[in-house]
Amino acid sequence: MLDIIILAAGKGTRMKSDKPKVLHTLAGKPFLQHVIDRARELKASNIYIVVGHGADQVRQCIGSADDIEYIEQTEQLGTGHAVQQVLPYLNDKAKSLILYGDVPLIATKTLESLLACADDKTLGLLTVTLDDPTGYGRIIKNGEGQVLAIVEQKDADVEQLKIQEVNTGVMAVHGQHLQQWLPKLRNDNAQGEYYLTDIIAMASKVDVEVKTAAPQKISETFGVNNRQQQAELERFYQQEFAAQLMQEGLNLMDPARFDCRGSLRFGKDCSIDVNCVLEGDIVLGDNVSIGPNCHIINATIGTNSEIKSHSIIEDAELHNDVTVGPFARLRPQTLLSAGAKVGNFVETKKAVIGKGSKVNHLSYVGDADVGENVNIGAGTITCNYDGANKFKTKIDDGVFVGSNSALVAPIHIEENATIAAGSTITQNVKAGALSVARTRQKNIDGWQRPKKK
Ligand code: UD1
Ligand code: CA
Repeated sequence: MLDIIILAAGKGTRMKSDKPKVLHTLAGKPFLQHVIDRARELKASNIYIVVGHGADQVRQCIGSADDIEYIEQTEQLGTGHAVQQVLPYLNDKAKSLILYGDVPLIATKTLESLLACADDKTLGLLTVTLDDPTGYGRIIKNGEGQVLAIVEQKDADVEQLKIQEVNTGVMAVHGQHLQQWLPKLRNDNAQGEYYLTDIIAMASKVDVEVKTAAPQKISETFGVNNRQQQAELERFYQQEFAAQLMQEGLNLMDPARFDCRGSLRFGKDCSIDVNCVLEGDIVLGDNVSIGPNCHIINATIGTNSEIKSHSIIEDAELHNDVTVGPFARLRPQTLLSAGAKVGNFVETKKAVIGKGSKVNHLSYVGDADVGENVNIGAGTITCNYDGANKFKTKIDDGVFVGSNSALVAPIHIEENATIAAGSTITQNVKAGALSVARTRQKNIDGWQRPKKK
């Protein structure tokens, strides 16, 4: 049994934002959500989130769930006061793990090793040793290395300030100990706050041993207080994610120029060139190549497909052997069947492009159902919108649409029909027919151009 308490009531003044700090994002996901995800990996029975500043916004953004309980701390009187708000709900036979909502990179392995330090006779404290410990609570030990207390920066004397081992804030404490100690906290300190850290001295006085654990990486314990720190943590995250993906066999041209704000699954021999941004859930088959500067959001891309540079793909499904771009924009509900080609400056939306069909240049295909082996010439537009309503275009197998055609929907062009270049098609076209819808060309011989007077 495990109770997890996440402190998330702070304002985050230095973010200079209307949004509560814990809702700012890392890899596209709120800091607090990262912490909740870790908590869930530990199979907590209950997750208590202490909210205060922007409590409604936090609740709304994170949402409700069976395992989550929001506890309101109306006044932020310190970390100890924050945990006191949860006291009535805590199981005194379970361990409680205290996490911070603005420390998003904390790793599950680290938390597991910390939890192993806590039982009904011990307390687990996550500490790190820093070259510059400024701002953090210092870990006070006796000659035998036993932890006696934590002294906050503002309350520390000159000798204590030299201590480099600091409190990360993350601790694992038995529920019954919190019930005993938290009501005894006092705020007679430099900040006039109820310090959670004062329970360390209480523990050492009643012979509850304080065991320290260290994170695998110091960056796991970094909190975010301003935009610079947010950007730094984003880089830590992306670097590590990139390293993991490369280990799994992904060919990343430059891991320092890669951003994945979501999940990425991929087959063998996939490569991603520089400056791509991937969001949401992305699935790549085998041998998929993504060129530089692509933005891909929630997409499945089949085996042997190639996405050329500067393409934007959102909520789309691409089957095997397709080619997209450069400079293509596939909008939501685009489906490219096997072997389809979508070339430069082509926009698609709610469009199914059949097997082997091509839309190679400068076109808009929206609300359209395109069959197999269709060729859509350069500059073709499906006119799907009359200013009020949207209509569908249906193009059957083997159709050839000449360049610079306007297909005014609703419209149905049947199998193997041909549309002459430059046509504006407003009526359905029968199978195998040629449709020409433009004024006949007139040539005037010996034309005299106007002359300047
Ligand atoms: C705290 C620790 C310090 C540690 C440091 C690590 C205490 C007294 N000090 O200091 O030893 O080195 O974290 O970063 O615990 N919060 C609430 N309600 C409150 C006060 C804070 O929810 O009333 C939340 C904040 O939103 C934040 C976290 O608790 O997420 C830490 O609070 P903060 O004020 O930043 O603590 P520090 O002074 O940094
Ligand atoms: Ca802090």
